[in-house]
Amino acid sequence: MSIILGIETSCDETAAAVYDSENKKLLSNTVFSQIKLHEIYGGVVPEIASRSHLEKMDIIVDSALKQANKTLEEINYIAVTNKPGLVGSLLVGLCFAKTLAYAKNKKLIGINHLEAHIFSSFLKSDNSIEKVPFPHICLSASGGSTVLYYVKNFGEYEIIGQTTDDAAGEAFDKIAKIIGFGYPGGAKIEQAASQVEFKDFYKYPRTKNLTKSLDFTFSGLKTAVMYDLVKKGAYDLNKGPIWNNITPELQNKVSGSLLVCIADIFQAKAELAFKKYPQAKALTFVGGVACNNYISERLKNISQKYDKSFITPPCKFCADNAAMIAFTGAYKAKQNKFSDLDLDVFK
Ligand code: KG4
Repeated sequence: MSIILGIETSCDETAAAVYDSENKKLLSNTVFSQIKLHEIYGGVVPEIASRSHLEKMDIIVDSALKQANKTLEEINYIAVTNKPGLVGSLLVGLCFAKTLAYAKNKKLIGINHLEAHIFSSFLKSDNSIEKVPFPHICLSASGGSTVLYYVKNFGEYEIIGQTTDDAAGEAFDKIAKIIGFGYPGGAKIEQAASQVEFKDFYKYPRTKNLTKSLDFTFSGLKTAVMYDLVKKGAYDLNKGPIWNNITPELQNKVSGSLLVCIADIFQAKAELAFKKYPQAKALTFVGGVACNNYISERLKNISQKYDKSFITPPCKFCADNAAMIAFTGAYKAKQNKFSDLDLDVFK
């Protein structure tokens, strides 16, 4: 009894995956990204997201099963993200999973999307499973959240720090937007920062409590960048960006400065976490922002300094995906943690 179908629709990715927990092998991982549908609006439009999930859900599940060479009959459990996320989007995946579970008499497992991100560090690019040691520190950074966890075991973790306002990914996205990179902006900021060899030109303010608290704050950074652009004649507080003055050189310099600033903040928090939790054996870095190679390299270096392993999954498992949902479902099944068919998006 070990084949798990994972389903994920919490935001703007329709995803399904099949995981074989007996052989510890991911059999398939399919995803339809809606980025193209939302980018003209500069962010995710919830109604468009739900409608697109509805159109793509059965195609994606079908292709995950085909890729895995499995039929629905061969699936033992159905794991589905039921929270947190956009309610309309979540409902599409959840109703689909509940219907399948009911019609095919399969056990259902509701998965917390944020918990699945924590354990995505176990997913390797060759679809085998990494042996991440416990306890470890996990830094999870995406467009919607930035959290530090102390992870004791599968399903056993506590929040030791989190953002008090915006998420790191949101800071990347919002600043990317005002310098003309569109949505989502994290990857474009990294690309532009590489053009200036990741130099910090403008020394944006780091968090005040940088080395004292494990919490994060990014809204002040966003405002600081905006006011610096006003000083440079590239932003008008009433009218927005002044495109004539936003040159490629300025875009690159802002990107370099922003990326180094956020990497400095992450590094300082990791260092503080190592000091507060000396028994932690590793640092894991997960969530969409963990696609960033520059930040990963900085976190790897600081981990080495403290004699900790550093693990970050390949980018396809950092961004939203169903492989992490199926994998999390596998250990929940082992722990006998199943959900009732009245599972909803708040439970
Ligand atoms: O986890 P994710 O796919 O979606 C959720 O927010 O749940 O994360 C998306 C976020 C976006 O804010 C995006 O700008 C950011 O991850 N991101 C990056 C990079 N690639 C994606 N941020 C910094 N550097 C990157 N290379």
